[in-house]
Amino acid sequence: MILRRIFKWTGRVIAILLVLAGVAILIAYWRSTNDCDRKTALINPMKAIVYCEYGSLDVLKFEDVAKPVPNDNQVLIRVRAASLNAIDAYLIRDTWLGRLIFGLRKPRNTGLGRDVAGQVEAVGRMVTQFKPGDEVFGISHTGSLAEYAVTPERALVIKPPNVSFEEAASIPIAGLTALQGLREGKIQPGQKVLINGATGGVGTFAVQIAKFFGAEATAVCSTRNVQLVRSIGADHVIDYTKEDFTKSDQRYDVIFDNVANHSFADRRRVLNPKGICVLAGMGGAGTRGGQAIGRIVGGFTARGLSSFVDQKFAMYVTKMSKPDLIMLAGLIEAGKIKPVIDRTYKLSDAVNALRYLDEGHARGKVVITVQ
Ligand SMILES: NC(=O)c1ccc[n+]([C@@H]2O[C@H](COP(=O)([O-])OP(=O)(O)OC[C@H]3O[C@@H](n4cnc5c(N)ncnc54)[C@H](OP(=O)(O)O)[C@@H]3O)[C@@H](O)[C@H]2O)c1
Repeated sequence: MILRRIFKWTGRVIAILLVLAGVAILIAYWRSTNDCDRKTALINPMKAIVYCEYGSLDVLKFEDVAKPVPNDNQVLIRVRAASLNAIDAYLIRDTWLGRLIFGLRKPRNTGLGRDVAGQVEAVGRMVTQFKPGDEVFGISHTGSLAEYAVTPERALVIKPPNVSFEEAASIPIAGLTALQGLREGKIQPGQKVLINGATGGVGTFAVQIAKFFGAEATAVCSTRNVQLVRSIGADHVIDYTKEDFTKSDQRYDVIFDNVANHSFADRRRVLNPKGICVLAGMGGAGTRGGQAIGRIVGGFTARGLSSFVDQKFAMYVTKMSKPDLIMLAGLIEAGKIKPVIDRTYKLSDAVNALRYLDEGHARGKVVITVQ
């Protein structure tokens, strides 16, 4: 009797909780919108690429939006150049994970683009390191595919004078991902490092930074990119259309893996006994759907399994780091590494630039210039 009552009440409580959770999700869904439907005229307009809905790249628009206003800790930049990253294409796609993070019904932030280079136009009250006129580069939080962008002071550094705006805009996400990933791999001079996916934005930095650290670099790329990776310093090249690097007799101290298209066992086989496989990415911007999910699950599985063996599979998320950005800018200023710029597009043509990147075969960075 008592047991029946307990079951009955537990059932009622669970039902009420489920209804409340459902209502909360519905409210969150309807409240998560953006300012695309505003009816009022813009007081201070600027041109920008925006996405008001999730979907294919067809949802992108080049239109007038409100010029951003920096808060106390932010810097307003007149954008001179921006560069695209795989994440820009991923953000637009309609995925449940994307909706959970970036807005259930519509994307909260409708601006696109992270990497930015330009001139400081205005600074917030608390900003101490920059003043109007300074030439800077870094990571924008509101969208760099625009005439103006705001970014926190901590996400910006001064651009060296002999580095162009286009080169500077190429550096932040791809350069930091390569540098921080090679550090995850505990790279040492004289080590053998293999870079899988050596010719995209991240890969072209990774080959050059591996060489800067004194490693022997093997680049994995397709036939048409063999000359490119040689020109940026790769000691050995494996053409993935003809040869599978996991079937070779070579052993590597570090695998910097931008693609994740081989199994845990296959990659282990070509790692030295104490080698490290750095799980940097899951293929270029063109990777999507089931293939992307398979590679993400494969990455977590490899990371977990590697706890039971000597070889390590390391995952990491790129972090904004002023010292790292300054180091990368210094290397470029000194001519030790050079950003590889594949194509340059005007801001008004940025949608086509994203379409090109989204095919997944960019050769280095795709850059947007803003007049
Ligand atoms: N861990 C992090 O926090 C972090 C941060 C930034 C980026 N990432 C990830 O890093 C990865 C690379 O980014 P990215 O900006 O370099 O992308 P990307 O520029 O779009 O990369 C395109 C390159 O991938 C190469 N590629 C495609 N399939 C390949 C294969 N089977 N084998 C070897 N190379 C192949 C292509 O070469 P071909 O034309 O020769 O095929 C192309 O050069 C992405 O998955 C991105 O999400 C991770």
